[in-house]
Amino acid sequence: MIYLDNAATSGYKPEAVIRSVSNALRALSANPGRSGHNLSVSAAEAVYKVRERLSDFFGATGPERVIFTGNCTQAVNFVLKGVLNANDGLIISNLEHNAVARPAFSLREKGVKVSVFDGFAKDPTQELNNLITKDTKLIFCTHVSNVCGKIIDIAKIGALCKKHGILFGVDAAQSGGVLPINMKEMGIDFLCLAPHKGLFAPMGTGVLIAEKQISKTVIEGGTGTASLSLAQPEDLPERLESGTINLPGICGIGAGVDFLLQKGRENILRHEAALCQKLYDDLKGNSGITVFGNGNFINEYAPLLSVSISGVKSDEVAALLDRKGIAVRGGYHCAPLAHKAMGTVNGGTVRIAPGINNCVWDIEQVKRALFSISNKKY
Ligand code: ALA
Repeated sequence: MIYLDNAATSGYKPEAVIRSVSNALRALSANPGRSGHNLSVSAAEAVYKVRERLSDFFGATGPERVIFTGNCTQAVNFVLKGVLNANDGLIISNLEHNAVARPAFSLREKGVKVSVFDGFAKDPTQELNNLITKDTKLIFCTHVSNVCGKIIDIAKIGALCKKHGILFGVDAAQSGGVLPINMKEMGIDFLCLAPHKGLFAPMGTGVLIAEKQISKTVIEGGTGTASLSLAQPEDLPERLESGTINLPGICGIGAGVDFLLQKGRENILRHEAALCQKLYDDLKGNSGITVFGNGNFINEYAPLLSVSISGVKSDEVAALLDRKGIAVRGGYHCAPLAHKAMGTVNGGTVRIAPGINNCVWDIEQVKRALFSISNKKY
């Protein structure tokens, strides 16, 4: 099978990640931060080391800012529902995944004032300057569109937020481990990550790095600290980490970060971008096939590509590719705002997302298959 659905989850999980998960299950099955016996302390130490790695990797101020969640969506919900109250202003982009758009629009029903900026703009701060009001409390946006790969200039937005005293949150589901992110330098207060994508970790893992306090909690419960108190602890990470955490998954995240450091994030990015570039150049200009984006990978677009074939719905194209042993994602990718902005609400797009393990031959196969489908030879 040719797996080109790495934007949904990285198809390749390094041996070191698999080993780390299985070692955790085999030799570290004790509840971290709870019982106080040797094995529980070793488990807590292992978790702490992963917090340190993530804090260093993403330029946070310290390991205690790193909160483990079940996925990136939970991390986003913790931020949006944790900091916003009725009458507060929230600005999001038109490239958001439903992980951001749905909680944002559900908050609108509770009195939060939601406005939307154009994530395709070269300099989004121009429009943001007009959208910011005295009520704006948070700008929260995706770094990379999961539909077309468009990169939003988060460093510029971070600087604008600092100037206005506005909180800034980033959904880095598609970019964490792929593009450079430094929270300090980019002025990011809340970073939400999907480690099972760019960090090669298992699914069912998520990370929130919170540089600012989150006043309201979405989930309360046991933290292993201040056990006699009926109030949720104030301190991070415990405040947002109630219940037993996913220790094997977290060990997998740590091994994923090590793998990335060893291979070099930039090398992986260059490899994936070169594959996208080839596919873009080969498909562009062919009648019957629309390729989205402008082919400026790394600077303006992350390495994933959306295409559509005239007269064939994207779901059907994805199913036809699947029959040829090629795995991609068709449809709307849980991102209705992005499809509206791209003009693809009628049929969606076929998303092709190469990963570290793909090669030029894979790209040749998908290109040929797309040409056959476009020529109705299937
Ligand atoms: N959010 C993931 C995607 O874009 C699952 O496919």
